[in-house]
Amino acid sequence: MTVPHVAHTVEELNRLLAELDEQTEHTERTDSAGGLAHRAVVMTMGALHAGHMELVDRARAAARQVVVTVFVNPLQFGPGEDYEAYPRVLDADVALLAEHGADIVFAPEREDMYPGGDPLVRVTSGHLGTILEGSFRPGHFDGVLTVVNKLMHLVRPQLAFFGEKDAQQLLLIKRMVKDFNLDVEIRPVPIVRQEDGLALSSRNSYLSEEERVTALTLSRALEAARDAAEQGSNGPEAREAAVAVFAEQPQVVLDYLVIVDPQTITDVTNDYAGKALALVAARVGTTRLIDNMHVEIAARA
Ligand code: PAJ
Repeated sequence: MTVPHVAHTVEELNRLLAELDEQTEHTERTDSAGGLAHRAVVMTMGALHAGHMELVDRARAAARQVVVTVFVNPLQFGPGEDYEAYPRVLDADVALLAEHGADIVFAPEREDMYPGGDPLVRVTSGHLGTILEGSFRPGHFDGVLTVVNKLMHLVRPQLAFFGEKDAQQLLLIKRMVKDFNLDVEIRPVPIVRQEDGLALSSRNSYLSEEERVTALTLSRALEAARDAAEQGSNGPEAREAAVAVFAEQPQVVLDYLVIVDPQTITDVTNDYAGKALALVAARVGTTRLIDNMHVEIAARA
């Protein structure tokens, strides 16, 4: 088990990347590491769990170099959100990343990422950044895309792994890569769940034991939508089945529950058939959670 090198500044990151390049060139000559990309990145905000590790494992299997970034990005938090409270446990994160074979951890401070204060020039996410999550978290996706863009330039990866857990984020990152001609391949990774269905999230650590049980409402509702569609319901009917699960749980506040066309993120209509995505956001106590599930809607005769 090799402990990853930790860089806190851009200078340190560049030095570690250059060192790694030398070592990698060396092994390249001695190994026949065929089919591997040169460098993969996994971007995170830390408080790492098995969901993040799935991304790291896939990066490890696909590239000679694996860089993991750990940065709680202030730009993507709104006023009154949990920027200050967000768990920061770098030592535990690095220990976990050592077990999964990451080469470099880039964990900058706010001042290292944004010297001279928050950036003047930012990425804007357009209409896609103002709906669903964006309507409850104004500016959130502009903040995400701005930091992801910066980290792409700093790490210079050929592959970047992102979780389907944040479906709207994933779609927007893919759009940014296309719209800006970024020279990187985005690899989506399915959601990792606990045995009872709860999607892993760093924010689950905010939940009390009782709230954790209540939080299962999200995945149960999505399963209800998926099952209803399997039994022949159309999109709006499958959505009703999912909303009904929330009706039995008054202690969960539903922000939105939609079934959308995955290409456009617009609500499916009565006659939509094919692959759809059920997306949900809800609050359990003061904790806001999101989840989603693929749903297959059958054509009606
Ligand atoms: P964070 O919430 O830490 O998530 C980092 C990555 O892990 C994202 O790609 C996310 O989708 C993925 N992920 C989280 N939980 C997962 C799960 N249960 N299964 C599969 N993948 C999961 O997303 C962010 O950080 C930030 O917005 C970031 C992209 C790092 C920009 O600041």
